[in-house]
Amino acid sequence: MKILLTGGRGQVGSEFAEYVEQNPSLGIELCLTDLHNLDICDRNQVRSTVEDFQPQWIVHLAALTAVDLCEDEVDLAYSVNAIGTRNLVQAAEAVGAKVCYISTDYVFDGEGSTPYREWDKPNPKSVYGKSKLAGEQEIRPSDLIIRTSWVMGKYGSNILKTMIRLAQGEGEVKFVGDQVGSPTVVSDLIKTIIELVTSDQGGVFHATNGGSLSWFQLCKFVFQEVGADPSRVIEISSEQLDSSRKAPRPKFSVLDNMALRLTKANPLPDYRESVAGLVETLLKG
Ligand SMILES: NC(=O)c1ccc[n+]([C@@H]2O[C@H](COP(=O)([O-])OP(=O)(O)OC[C@H]3O[C@@H](n4cnc5c(N)ncnc54)[C@H](OP(=O)(O)O)[C@@H]3O)[C@@H](O)[C@H]2O)c1
Repeated sequence: MKILLTGGRGQVGSEFAEYVEQNPSLGIELCLTDLHNLDICDRNQVRSTVEDFQPQWIVHLAALTAVDLCEDEVDLAYSVNAIGTRNLVQAAEAVGAKVCYISTDYVFDGEGSTPYREWDKPNPKSVYGKSKLAGEQEIRPSDLIIRTSWVMGKYGSNILKTMIRLAQGEGEVKFVGDQVGSPTVVSDLIKTIIELVTSDQGGVFHATNGGSLSWFQLCKFVFQEVGADPSRVIEISSEQLDSSRKAPRPKFSVLDNMALRLTKANPLPDYRESVAGLVETLLKG
């Protein structure tokens, strides 16, 4: 199967490329792209790259993911997240390819108290969430949307790496206890992407690790895994956070992985198992 990957140098893309390279039995031929060789906002470049490679699938990871920057750079956010997606869908249409678009819990308002299902009405509050939803709206019904949350992996920077660094230091650290979600370890997400793509699925799927908790609870869990004293982690509320953070964060962004369950696809493991495994990998360096 020929897959064109956008955002191939990002957190998910780097590990996706590594996984495909280490597992030749998957039979995947990858065309790895990122901003340096394919700006998805450039319609002509997208068209010629897709036509040259002739993929069966485009796994579309590229996005403007800096949520606070998106509040200031509204046109750029929509340009990358919405127009970029439109360009890829149009190019896919021209060569008979399907698109797998990776989306986010930020499409919901986070004001619920039970896990969001794939069919629940999105109501994004941030520019990032609105522009990612705009990208979803460019996707054809036969294409695939995978919404995920709290992504953490080996490459790039993420909050798990910050927590490990803090655990290895000294003194108190503060994390919010009133924002609840589900972590998603990149290696698990990649397996789900590949499973859904190779089984030619379409529609919307939520894909996160099992279980949910607050950032405060996650930090305590990480401290335990690192062997640091979890009582150093202090719970604060979102109101006590740095007010320079422009984008509103969802208070409750747990995604029910209902479509995976109903289609009998493999569930992602519980976060305790996956985050513990990732902490161990990161500690080994
Ligand atoms: N990280 C999370 O917690 C999370 C949660 C839910 C959903 N997601 C979604 O998951 C996907 C992958 O996330 P990630 O964590 O791997 O993001 P990431 O590390 O920020 O990677 C995104 C990549 O897209 C590239 N990019 C930006 N503008 C581009 C353009 N115009 N043309 C081509 N490439 C461009 C970036 O390049 P530069 O670095 O050079 O700008 C970067 O390599 C994204 O669609 C994101 O919205 C992420």
